[in-house]
Amino acid sequence: MRIGLIGTGRIGTFHATALSRHREVGGSLIVTDADPARARRLADRLGATAAPGVDEIFTWGVDAVVITAATSAHGELIGRAARAGLPVFCEKPIALDLAGTLTAIAEVEAAGTVLQMGFQRRFDSGYAAAREAVRSGRLGRLHTVRAMTSDQSPPPAEHLPLSGGLYRDTLVHDFDMVRWVTGREVTEVCAMGSDAGPAMFREAGDIDTAAAVLTLDDGVLATATATRLNGAGYDVRMELAGELDQIGAGLDDRTPITSTEPAGPPAATKPWTGFLERFGPAYEAELHAFVEVVRGERANPCDGREALQALRVAEACVLSRRERRVVPLAEIAG
Ligand SMILES: NC(=O)c1ccc[n+]([C@@H]2O[C@H](COP(=O)([O-])OP(=O)(O)OC[C@H]3O[C@@H](n4cnc5c(N)ncnc54)[C@H](O)[C@@H]3O)[C@@H](O)[C@H]2O)c1
Repeated sequence: MRIGLIGTGRIGTFHATALSRHREVGGSLIVTDADPARARRLADRLGATAAPGVDEIFTWGVDAVVITAATSAHGELIGRAARAGLPVFCEKPIALDLAGTLTAIAEVEAAGTVLQMGFQRRFDSGYAAAREAVRSGRLGRLHTVRAMTSDQSPPPAEHLPLSGGLYRDTLVHDFDMVRWVTGREVTEVCAMGSDAGPAMFREAGDIDTAAAVLTLDDGVLATATATRLNGAGYDVRMELAGELDQIGAGLDDRTPITSTEPAGPPAATKPWTGFLERFGPAYEAELHAFVEVVRGERANPCDGREALQALRVAEACVLSRRERRVVPLAEIAG
């Protein structure tokens, strides 16, 4: 299968490596980047082909496109692929705003093509087991969900203005998980944020730490927290509590938290440090799934409408924090 991958930065390099190892793709992979030298270096390392620009991806007869370029390029590239009738895998988010997201989804739907979004936690074994536990009923009636994402260290300052902020960039993964694991919709949010850490967050109009309370349509209460400043390590978890049992995803011997109890579990000797390490198998699995989707062997595991719902929750949080009030999801277009 000839796949054209656009954007060979951090995540693009990881995805290209996984695709070049895939037996269906292997050496047929084509990569490109706004920085052609970067694409060429990666192609040489992987035994792939470097295309001089994005145009070639659409004229060299690829079977599918993988978009791992900067977020600002996603909407236009999704539209181009849709008009060319090509299936697309795109890293989250579709766009930084609702209007751009809705336009891209409309183009895909008008063309009748596939858009699979990169919410890799759907392919993480711990989150998948949590979803199964909720579905099986073994937790009893669910009442509380706690979702969290803690980055060990902040991203480079230049990333912040392009990221869309902590709710859209990071917590959007937790919002997707709250929906996907529980199978319920968020009806309202109340969100707060703090910029008391390094000045670069204030200077970018962003926050370094956030907390939101989400009400789900069956009355379950979910909290979602995120920080860019968790020196202990990269900590991504979800706890679900029901009337019969309580479970936790992402809780293992690498979870960067130290118990204060003498009989508690020992502190992790090798705590998680970042997303590529923590979710490596999940990223690989989502791309394997995309190859199967392109071959018509499975249904799309995360389409544009799913990504839109997670973004709507993020948008509601931005509004809630700004206006210091509870925001019903019905206020957010979608
Ligand atoms: N799912 C996840 O967990 C996850 C993790 C990290 C990043 N992401 C997403 O992946 C995307 C890329 O993030 P990154 O961290 O790899 O960024 P990055 O800055 O490391 O890489 C982006 C690359 O895209 C290239 N680029 C930008 N505009 C382009 C264009 N119009 N055409 C071709 N190439 C272009 C840049 O030159 C750069 O090499 C972002 O949308 C980000 O939100 C998702």
